[in-house]
Parts: sequence; C-alpha cells; structure tokens
Amino acid sequence: MKLWALSDPHLSFSQHKPMHIFGEGWRNHWEKIERGWRRHVQPGDVVLVTGDISWARRFPDALPDLAWLDRLPGRRKLIVRGNHDHWWPNSPAERGLVPPSLALLAGSALEVAGLVFCGTGGWLDPADPYFDALDHRPFARELGALELALEQGRALEAGRGIHVLIHFPPYTSKGRPTQFDALLRRFPVRSVTYGHLHLAEEWHLAPKGEIDGIRYTLAAADYLGFTPVAVPV
Ligand SMILES: [Fe+2]
Ligand SMILES: [Fe+2]
Repeated sequence: MKLWALSDPHLSFSQHKPMHIFGEGWRNHWEKIERGWRRHVQPGDVVLVTGDISWARRFPDALPDLAWLDRLPGRRKLIVRGNHDHWWPNSPAERGLVPPSLALLAGSALEVAGLVFCGTGGWLDPADPYFDALDHRPFARELGALELALEQGRALEAGRGIHVLIHFPPYTSKGRPTQFDALLRRFPVRSVTYGHLHLAEEWHLAPKGEIDGIRYTLAAADYLGFTPVAVPV
C-alpha cells in the first residue's frame, strides 16, 4: 500500500467552468489528473485529496465530481473541505450519497490500511496579512476541529504516528508557522498534507519536505503538474 496526495482538483463536471483562465496549465486539467493518477495509483493505495474538490455550490451538483473521483484507482480517497467546497454535505441523507471509496474528514480521525489520518479544512491564521474581521469565527472553529481530530488520532495511533490532512497551509502567506502548526506539533504527527496555494510566490514560501521530524507536502494539483505525489508513511 502506498500513500499519495493530490489536492485542489477544482472539478466541475455538472457545469462547464473554463479553468484555463487561471493559466494554460489548467486547460482540460481533469484529463491530466486522471492520466497521472492512473499511471501511479494502484487499487490498494490511499490518496489524500485536501480540499477544493468541486466548484459546485449545491451538493447534488457535486455528485458527478465525486463519482469521477470514486472511479479513479485507490481503495480510499480521503477528503477535507476547501474554502471553495460549498457543496459539502450537511445532512445524513446527503452524506449517505457520498460514493463508497471517498471518506470525508471534518475534525475527525480515521484508520485506513493500518495508518491513522486526521483531517479538517483549516483556515487563515490571525498572523496572516489576508486575515480580516470575518475570519475570527471560522479560524477558532477550525482550530478547535483540528484539536478534536488530533485527540481522536492520538487515541488510535499507538506509536504509528498521525498523518494530517488540511486544506489551508499551516504557514502564513509570509512563510511563518501558524497556530495550526503549533497545535499539531503537540501531537505525534508524522506528515502534514495541504493544498490551497496556486501562486508560484506562495509555493516558494510554503513548508515542504521534513521540518523537525514532520513531513510537509504541498499537494495543490497545479504545483504537482496535475500528478499525484507519494507521501512517505
Ligand atoms: Fe484551490
Ligand atoms: Fe483553497
């Protein structure tokens, strides 16, 4: 079993959404993702898809996007909510329609294939220059959700360590560790996988590789050339 990551697919199969306005690399980007995914991911593997899954605003409109992810190889695709995921299911009936290979993590932990995962969307940190008054509430909610997930994860991990999924990077856009980073360092975290960043100057300042024993992976699809990257377990 291998662990892979690819974030921010920004799918829109229920409604045409020209993505190449964000750069030529995004033209027919789902075809590139599918090609790279099928080249690397085996049926028994696990893939972390850390947010900005779909442009859909309503849950039913996201179903074609979720079905597409479900059809791709991998025993489970673990998903957290990105800031664009307005379709996120909010009732048991909707959650029951999520395809079987997808697992949505929102302030929760999950054991898959002998590994322990904790996930939530995260948010901007108050130290970030982009943070404004409206960010206080979601920031506090998401910090609490991460703590809850990590506490659940710690109860499961039994020396194996925790793999964290979070949409927002745990560093500010100025390249400084956030309160999310400080929190996850209080737990036995092995890896942190995140997305959200789509600008080269942001990629440059984002945490990558091993820092103080934690493996950071920037998994934004465009950063990865639309091909999943392996996350060491
Ligand atoms: Fe994104
Ligand atoms: Fe995002």
